Amino acid sequence: MQDNATATADRPSAAPRHLLVTGGCGFIGSNFVRLVVLEHPDTRVTVLDKLTYAGNPYNLAGLPTDRVELVVGDICDQQVVDRLVERSDAVVNFAAESHNDNAIADPQPCMRTNVQGTFCLLEACRRHDVRFHHISTDEVFGDLALDDPARFTEASPYCPLSPYASSKASADMLVRAWVRTYGVRATISNCSNNYGPYQHVEKFIPRAVTSVLAGVRPKLYGDGRNVRDWIHVDDHCRAIWVILTHGRLGETYLVGADGERSNIEVLHTILRLMGRDEDAFDWVRDRPGHDRRYALDAGKLRRELGWKPKHTDFAEGLSQTIAWYREHEAWWRLAKVATEATYAKRGQ
Ligand code: NAD
Ligand code: DAU
Repeated sequence: MQDNATATADRPSAAPRHLLVTGGCGFIGSNFVRLVVLEHPDTRVTVLDKLTYAGNPYNLAGLPTDRVELVVGDICDQQVVDRLVERSDAVVNFAAESHNDNAIADPQPCMRTNVQGTFCLLEACRRHDVRFHHISTDEVFGDLALDDPARFTEASPYCPLSPYASSKASADMLVRAWVRTYGVRATISNCSNNYGPYQHVEKFIPRAVTSVLAGVRPKLYGDGRNVRDWIHVDDHCRAIWVILTHGRLGETYLVGADGERSNIEVLHTILRLMGRDEDAFDWVRDRPGHDRRYALDAGKLRRELGWKPKHTDFAEGLSQTIAWYREHEAWWRLAKVATEATYAKRGQ
């Protein structure tokens, strides 16, 4: 978005007084709401969340009700969205169908929420001239070969290769078009794989951890050599706040913490930290079209906005995450049963 005629070097440095967070009952959204409430006392938050299988109001438990309001609703519902955007001074859009395996099995919900939902939010922000920050993914750039020295940057061409990635790329394109055509005051961040507390048990790290805790062998897709670029969710949330409050309007920022690791390496680390043999897992069939490697260069975010990750010791971050799942069995137990039944039907 750098050559955008309507984007200016305008920096919205004031913290929003009333923030609308969509998808705030999910993994990253709830971590973000907690960070805002604890560290930014002048900001009130309204969460708009449909409470799909991935959304859990318990994720906001304990936060002060005079600072955080939950509205159960759909980002595709233009009336609800307009009403909430009108009374906000910024929107951060986390709401999405976020899981690749689900989008492969049935792409419809993913297209609806990720594309149509972003469109509804953009229209409301255009009508009410409200600042918009869109949460996106490194998957929009496609994948890299294992031996490719390259990493994604903001200048990398879009090349989404999966249904989920193409829905997120479509949403990013809408944001860019609304910036250029209507002058919507928006930014985009494209982040790599997050880990940490409150992540749904369908995802790789919490699935493996809760399997070990439940006495079941974790599952590794394909040949296990696929590489993901891991970042702690707290580092991602801090990056979002700094982009929201100091990022240049119309710009894209990549968020990553130089955390490239193969899946088998991650699984070995989890098993070792949990006192199991490194080979105490099962190989299962590969994900169709499985992206080989993601890796991103967050140099622009570091240079322009001074962000840097705090959680640089991956084994330490994993240990804390394992401890969180050990202490929160009531949070994951029911979802685990439903999730594993779905995986079993898919042979994964
Ligand atoms: P999540 O699946 O844990 O949470 C998604 C939340 O959105 C849930 O609370 C769900 O109820 C809500 N939601 C879904 N459809 C909705 C709708 N139509 N209206 C309102 N709410 C709806 O997802 P996450 O892992 O926290 O991801 C959040 C965002 O970050 C997504 O946009 C995702 O694409 C992006 N992202 C995730 C990662 C990652 O590693 N998890 C990395 C980069 C980007
Ligand atoms: O790169 C950012 C993306 O990271 C986000 O945009 C997505 O919302 C998020 O879900 C994540 O996508 P992945 O597909 O990379 O995450 P997932 O946790 O599903 O899988 C991580 C890797 O682990 C992937 O290569 C598939 C593999 N895997 C996954 C599961 C669930 C396994 O080997 N075994 C498993 O049981």
